[in-house]
Amino acid sequence: MKKVITILFVAALLVASSRQAIALEPGQTADKPFVELFENVVPATMTGNVFKLVGEDFMLITSGTEADFNTMTAGWGGWGVLFNAPTTWCMLRANRYTLEYIRNTKTYTLTFFEDEYNDQVLHFGMASGRNSDKMKTHRLTAVTTPLGNIAYKEASLIIECELVQLTTIQPGDFYTEEAKAFVASGYEEAKDYHKLVFGKITNVWRKK
Ligand SMILES: Cc1cc2nc3c(=O)[nH]c(=O)nc-3n(C[C@H](O)[C@H](O)[C@H](O)COP(=O)(O)O)c2cc1C
Repeated sequence: MKKVITILFVAALLVASSRQAIALEPGQTADKPFVELFENVVPATMTGNVFKLVGEDFMLITSGTEADFNTMTAGWGGWGVLFNAPTTWCMLRANRYTLEYIRNTKTYTLTFFEDEYNDQVLHFGMASGRNSDKMKTHRLTAVTTPLGNIAYKEASLIIECELVQLTTIQPGDFYTEEAKAFVASGYEEAKDYHKLVFGKITNVWRKK
């Protein structure tokens, strides 16, 4: 009996120490340092078409800290030059749980993936992290960037953003019928209007 207890104790210690060994440090993944997986590119040399990247392949928006973060799928957004800086924008319905993380940390990442990860990209759009276990049941590997933002190791492109403006759209500001319908449908679900989120691009990372 004593021998069994000793074996169980040693096994528990081994499990605990192996957990400690894979705890992620900022800029590290479980296996390789972040900068060995991704190379930093300046926004002016970014490749890829935004209509395909965002509009067809979709992206993930992730915000929070290593201890607590949330991810959602997004298909509305883009980037360009605003506020005299390389800037991204996304449009989120007011009830998205990810918005709470963006408001709290004031940073977030946009991540883009090759086709083989399509099911994973869609996974984060099927339910809210507020009342589902989607953050525990995905198959991607969270990584922390050198700035401390959360992204995914499987991404082919990561854009790190610092929140610049989070604003509520006003229905009276829309002129086309399509846009008016879009705004109205967002209100129906959230009982509030969409939030436009602008972020200054702090880093762009491309898979090595
Ligand atoms: C392909 C796809 C694209 C989506 N695009 C957006 C979007 O741009 N903005 C938005 O607010 N919701 C979008 N959604 C819905 C959110 O991803 C979904 O409501 C998600 O559950 C929100 O997660 P959260 O509450 O954990 O933040 C999209 C969903 C899918 C499947």
